[in-house]
Amino acid sequence: MNQVDYLRISAIDRCNFRCHYCMPEGAELDYILRPELLRSEEILTLLQEVFIPLGFRKFRLTGGEPLLRPGIVNLVREIASLPATEDLSLSTNAFLLADMARDLYDAGLRRINISLDSLVPETFDKIIGNRGRSRWEQTWKGIQAAHKVGFNPLKLNVVVIPGINDREVLDLAALSIDRNWHVRFIEFMPIGNIELFGERAWIPSEELRQRIRSQWGSLESSDVKGNGPADVFQIPGAKGTLGFISQMSECFCDRCNRMRLSADGWLRPCLLNESGQIDLKTPLRQGIDPAQLREKVRQILLIKPEINFKQRDSGTDGELYKRTMSQIGG
Ligand code: GTP
Ligand code: 5AD
Ligand code: SF4
Repeated sequence: MNQVDYLRISAIDRCNFRCHYCMPEGAELDYILRPELLRSEEILTLLQEVFIPLGFRKFRLTGGEPLLRPGIVNLVREIASLPATEDLSLSTNAFLLADMARDLYDAGLRRINISLDSLVPETFDKIIGNRGRSRWEQTWKGIQAAHKVGFNPLKLNVVVIPGINDREVLDLAALSIDRNWHVRFIEFMPIGNIELFGERAWIPSEELRQRIRSQWGSLESSDVKGNGPADVFQIPGAKGTLGFISQMSECFCDRCNRMRLSADGWLRPCLLNESGQIDLKTPLRQGIDPAQLREKVRQILLIKPEINFKQRDSGTDGELYKRTMSQIGG
């Protein structure tokens, strides 16, 4: 059985963007209220008393947008300084990063994954649902700040949406040539907003690799620090790499190594299957003995292989999901 040692912790479900693929209109109505958010001490208790004793060593802070959580820098500092933490990372849209990159680095964060779906401000604003002044520039400044501060690896996540940003694949891939940046192309998943997801709303990674090969020749197999499902390649001579996350064209559930903790304290064993979720916050607040909570999670770990989503043939049924991607944290 696969070692499950990676916990994705959603720090907050709110986001300052409204990416169509992640947050359908009206999702903000269901925002978690402040008293229901796990407090930082509660997250740390869960890590120390439950997850670390069960073997978890790799942690990622996600959102919504994690930088919107009050006290996020301290939370980073505390998780980074746990002796058991082997890897800590954060997934962000970078809009607030220009002012926060230095503090996050000083708090112990060493690597970061940033969503960047387009290099064209109009396309970018369309994807993130922004109707006001363009937000591209501030996001780009955030990425530059992360680069300057020294996050390594610095990964850029691109959700490829046919007809919207797929024509930019070569321009985005080129970002990995002169800089030590790691560009990852993600097959769009029908979760969060299935209206956007027509007959064939995703492009197989292999098709993207063909386009990239016809520009730069054959891709070399490569590697970069990470715990996710990306297949990593390199344009010959490039400083950075290209990653492909292909959850629609190939099933990687058999090597699944992660679980997710929502901002309101629910443990989710599988991104694409809602069964098996348990509420950790309520018993924790009721003063349960942590050993009992650990036992509950241990039981979930035992049945996780059966919960893991494997039915690629029947496709995902986005309508079934109660939580959107913004609430799960990707
Ligand atoms: P690294 O540790 O840097 O490799 O990060 P990661 O790829 O685990 O994290 P990131 O937040 O950058 O995730 C990128 C995207 O990969 C997610 O938003 C999803 O689209 C996809 N993804 C990550 N984990 C899973 C998973 O367990 N199942 C599926 N189906 N997709 C996933
Ligand atoms: N399909 C694929 N990836 C998604 N993300 C959000 N929604 C989707 C979706 N429907 C990705 C974002 C971000 C990561 C945390 O989740 O690109 O980088
Ligand atoms: Fe793991 Fe579920 Fe993602 Fe498959 S879909 S990799 S089982 S979280």
